[in-house]
Amino acid sequence: MGSIQASKTNQRSVFESAPYIPPDLIFEVTKNYLADSDPKKVNVGAGTYRDENGQPWVLPSVRMAKSLIADCGHEYLPIAGLKSFRTGVTELVFHDTTALRNDCIASCQSLSGTGALHLAALALKKANASNGEVYITDPTWSNHELLFESLNFVVHKMPYYKNSAFDFDGYMESLKAAIPGSAIVLHTCAHNPTGCDPSQAQWKEIASVVQERQLFPIFDSAYLGFNSGSVDADAWALKYFIEECNIEAAVALSFAKSMGLYGERTGMVAFVTRSPEMAVNLNSILENVQRATVSSPVAYGSHIVSTVLNNPDIKDQWAKDLVTMSSRIQAMRQKLYDELVRLQTPGDWSPIIRQSGMFGYTGISPAQIKHMQDKYHIYMADTSRISIAGLNDKNVEYFAMAIDSTVRNIQ
Ligand code: LMR
Repeated sequence: MGSIQASKTNQRSVFESAPYIPPDLIFEVTKNYLADSDPKKVNVGAGTYRDENGQPWVLPSVRMAKSLIADCGHEYLPIAGLKSFRTGVTELVFHDTTALRNDCIASCQSLSGTGALHLAALALKKANASNGEVYITDPTWSNHELLFESLNFVVHKMPYYKNSAFDFDGYMESLKAAIPGSAIVLHTCAHNPTGCDPSQAQWKEIASVVQERQLFPIFDSAYLGFNSGSVDADAWALKYFIEECNIEAAVALSFAKSMGLYGERTGMVAFVTRSPEMAVNLNSILENVQRATVSSPVAYGSHIVSTVLNNPDIKDQWAKDLVTMSSRIQAMRQKLYDELVRLQTPGDWSPIIRQSGMFGYTGISPAQIKHMQDKYHIYMADTSRISIAGLNDKNVEYFAMAIDSTVRNIQ
């Protein structure tokens, strides 16, 4: 018996050189926050909306939709997703575009925004429309680099942030040198993690270089409606590219933030093409890459989104819900800033009220981030990004006091 066990343990394993890959730190922040029993703890880490009591918020519009759905069965969805979801979402985002009127848009339901980016990248390759290179911003959402590298793209980083603002000059310099035929990931609004978006004038210059260099834009549009309260206002940049400049593009959409459907993994990828025939081909390619990766998408979330978008009363309520979320975040930005000014905290905190969307960039050092966690039980991303949605009337003064004391005492 003993010798059998000994010989079993002596056998070589195929995993001997398997590396340990550290998890994405943003999920570690949530894990550490949940494990902390201090009643004062604050989570400004992961980008998930919280209400004025610091709790997850089920949108009233989503509650209404769920009560109408009752039971959506357990059958497979079609490979490209629920038809009423795809048409509802396409209409929501592209309702005023020539591309939609001319049937030039291909679409496929995806596993939220990450799945949409994944399908976009795979479809670009299958369509022979990619040179295998992609440009992303530095910094950017932590998953961009991982996702494109895992699909064997060569990832190039473009400077994005300098002196607490969008580094337009650095960005343009690198854009003008981009390899023709490459893809470029553009954050349609609410740049993650900096909260700094190009102005409309800057977007126009970006579009003209994208055209000149023959780059293919992939619009990461995870925050449409959530940023300003209006889907149309938040989609301005992508509409400018496709409508005013007639640029082909992919659009990666998610209903995690805008409908609070984080766990339902509900998103869509759309390709804006030049002809109905190309859209038909792109639809076939999207179905093909969807089948190869997840076979068919998730049903429940798409029924919720479809019910919200296709029922006028529920859609009106959703419009109000978007305003509730975006204005609460805006109010918290202002409160945090006012409190830091009142405390005369060393440093310029005005970027907090100039940035937009869910995130703020504080610029505090790694030692200061650690101190905030160890002493004040405040959890934030290692980049110093804070999710403003984690603040509320009950904790914003505590948070400001902690920042004030930390920047005065820790380098
Ligand atoms: C974030 O940036 O914190 C969120 O989008 C969550 C995630 O998946 O990273």
